[in-house]
Amino acid sequence: MRAPILVMLIFILVALSPTLVVSSYSYDNFAIAKPSCNDSCGHVRVPFPFGTTQECYLDKAFEVTCNHTSFVPPKLFLGEGGIEIADISLDGQMRVMQYIANDCYFPNGSSSYKNSPWIWLSSFTVNNTANKFTIVGCDAYAFVSGNRLGHDFTTGCIAMCSSEDDLTEGECAGVGCCQTPIPKDVWKIQVEVNSYSNYTNVLDVNRCGYAFVVEDSAFNFSKDNLTNLSLVETLPMVLDWAIGNGTCQEAKSNATGYACISANSECYEPKNGDGYRCRCEHGFEGNPYLTHGCKDIDECKNKTLNDCTKNEYCNNTQGTYTCSCPKHYIGNGQGVDGCKLSSKKQNMMIAFIFIGIASGIIVLLLAVNILFMELKRRSQKKKKQRFFLQNGGHMLQEKLARREASPEMVKIFSSSELEKATSNFSNSMIIGRGGFGTVYKGVLADRRTVAIKRSIRVDPAQIEQFINEVVILSQINHRNVVRLLGCCLETDVPLLVYEFISNGTLSSHLHDEAKARALDWSMRLKIAIDTAEVLSYLHSSASTPIIHRDVKSDNILLDHTLTVKVSDFGASKLVPIDLAQLSTVVLGTLGYLDPEYMQTNQLTEKSDVYSFGVVLLELVTGRRALSFDRPAEEKSLSNYFLYVLKQDLLVKIIDEKIACLGNMEQIYAVCKLAKECLNVKGEDRPNMKEVAMELQGLILGGKHPWERNKADSTEEMEYLLPNDHDGMGDVSSSVGYDSIRRDHIVLPINGGR
Ligand SMILES: *[C@@H]1O[C@H](CO)[C@@H](O)[C@H](O)[C@H]1NC(C)=O
Ligand SMILES: *[C@@H]1O[C@H](CO)[C@@H](O)[C@H](O)[C@H]1NC(C)=O
Repeated sequence: MRAPILVMLIFILVALSPTLVVSSYSYDNFAIAKPSCNDSCGHVRVPFPFGTTQECYLDKAFEVTCNHTSFVPPKLFLGEGGIEIADISLDGQMRVMQYIANDCYFPNGSSSYKNSPWIWLSSFTVNNTANKFTIVGCDAYAFVSGNRLGHDFTTGCIAMCSSEDDLTEGECAGVGCCQTPIPKDVWKIQVEVNSYSNYTNVLDVNRCGYAFVVEDSAFNFSKDNLTNLSLVETLPMVLDWAIGNGTCQEAKSNATGYACISANSECYEPKNGDGYRCRCEHGFEGNPYLTHGCKDIDECKNKTLNDCTKNEYCNNTQGTYTCSCPKHYIGNGQGVDGCKLSSKKQNMMIAFIFIGIASGIIVLLLAVNILFMELKRRSQKKKKQRFFLQNGGHMLQEKLARREASPEMVKIFSSSELEKATSNFSNSMIIGRGGFGTVYKGVLADRRTVAIKRSIRVDPAQIEQFINEVVILSQINHRNVVRLLGCCLETDVPLLVYEFISNGTLSSHLHDEAKARALDWSMRLKIAIDTAEVLSYLHSSASTPIIHRDVKSDNILLDHTLTVKVSDFGASKLVPIDLAQLSTVVLGTLGYLDPEYMQTNQLTEKSDVYSFGVVLLELVTGRRALSFDRPAEEKSLSNYFLYVLKQDLLVKIIDEKIACLGNMEQIYAVCKLAKECLNVKGEDRPNMKEVAMELQGLILGGKHPWERNKADSTEEMEYLLPNDHDGMGDVSSSVGYDSIRRDHIVLPINGGR
């Protein structure tokens, strides 16, 4: 709706502007007559010094009469009548209508007539440049006679023709038409036209001769004029008018009679005739014969009157104007390119433009950046949602909802929360790396320190099992279990968040010389008992049996009071049964892995028992489960242990840091228990509960119920003595489990089952 209105408005303005300008600049924007005097008669304007009454004209010479009675519209006459005035200009000219002289002949002679008009001017002169004495006819000669400079004068012209064919349109050179100029200073003329032979030879062409003084531009010869001029009475003639008959000098010295009374007027003398004239000085317009008649011309309103670069640069002054440049511009303001920006301003403009462009670019970049970030954020959000779904997020949410959330319950962390906690999973926050993934230390927003484990991608088929396990593990609230606080499912690989245990792993304590010394036998036994109890609890007491799957000294953490905190329950389950990845898994836990797993591909409670057996050996020997820097036969701790057992060389591998007389009985008992745990066949191993009870029994100094029928520990040790001596070769040749399988040591281990 707005556009048409705007267009209309512009249209109206455009349409109005020329009329406004024209009206304000029209020629009549100044008075030409005295106040309360008529300044026109019909179409003719009457400027002072002319006037119709004594009050209105300068003197009698300028008296004119406006005849309203005989003519409509009225006509103006010079003096009290006689010569009709067609036009008066302030430049000193006037146009009067002058009669034509004629001389006509008709065959019978009766109708012939002749007319010789004259004009006698008291104060004016016939203009010598604008007028021509003209004669039209084919058998005519004419005179113009009169007076100039006090003498009579006569001049003439002849016009002849023999047939109409001789005549040329527009050409007045003696054939049918003749013209001659009028001399200067003529104030009185009479025109007379005559015939040489009374038109007898050219009667068929022309019967009249005509002569007249006419304004040159008002007459253009035509063949028709030979006949049609008889219908015309008068033709315009230009007169010059001036004031008085003296010079400017004389007029000025005459105190009363000087006519140029307007300010900014000047006097000049005409080239033709006597007297003087007035005109407005340059830059003024109006009637110089009136008081205040000359008005300043505002050159600034009309572009053609000034040469300023723009009308706005123009300042009108009295009689003239000046051009000046606006602020910050230099130059004279004239011509096409009169004003130039001053260099300071120019620099400023450039600076502004530069700043403008620069800020534009910055804004654009910002916008693009924001857009980009927003897109990235959205795609990341989508990705997070996809991962969340993929990792069973909904399943977990449903389960949590069904169980009525309690603060103890597993929390679902957002990925950004954990990113913040670990400063974007920076390498400096890594506290552990293993076959199952990387462990980061993190500080949550509530200042809790946590361990965040990034495991390996979950097999989509096992998602439900994984989620179940997360829920179950999070519910375990045992003083010897590292608490699972929550998980994050928004990442490619699920992140598990555990409570942070400050004092490192059992492995690090055992294999660090100084720390190992601090770990005396009773301490080690305590660790063994606590670990065994936790495993037993998880295998039997928890609502669903939970198999650890990766029992090793690296997964047994110690807090600042050296209390056991078992970590990573069920974590290995997150690993898909994929051969490519299995190798990494086995590498990570080799030395602890249940040999039966090789055949069944299944980890059971008894697998944990086997692994725990290896941990017992580590506690007793202070050696690593698998040490590549030892001789080949000593590489696998379990194999080597069984070998030295057979060789009755047990003392050789017992850690000298704990070996003292008081401990030996217990140490041997633990070794015996370890051997049980390391049985190749899962069913031959005791279960975790039995192991835990056995270890507790050692502290109490009593004997385990299921071995009460045994005589004493020395006798017991006899069973530990090797009875098959070729086992050693196998151990040295491979890391297999054959030697163990062949090694049937009969032990009364049925009591606990
Ligand atoms: C001369 O003849 C032409 C053509 O007919 C005419 O227009 C013109 O008015 C005539 N001139 C005079 C002064 O009558
Ligand atoms: C401006 O002045 C010139 C010369 O005097 C004149 O011809 C023209 O009509 C004037 N223009 C306007 C818009 O008055």
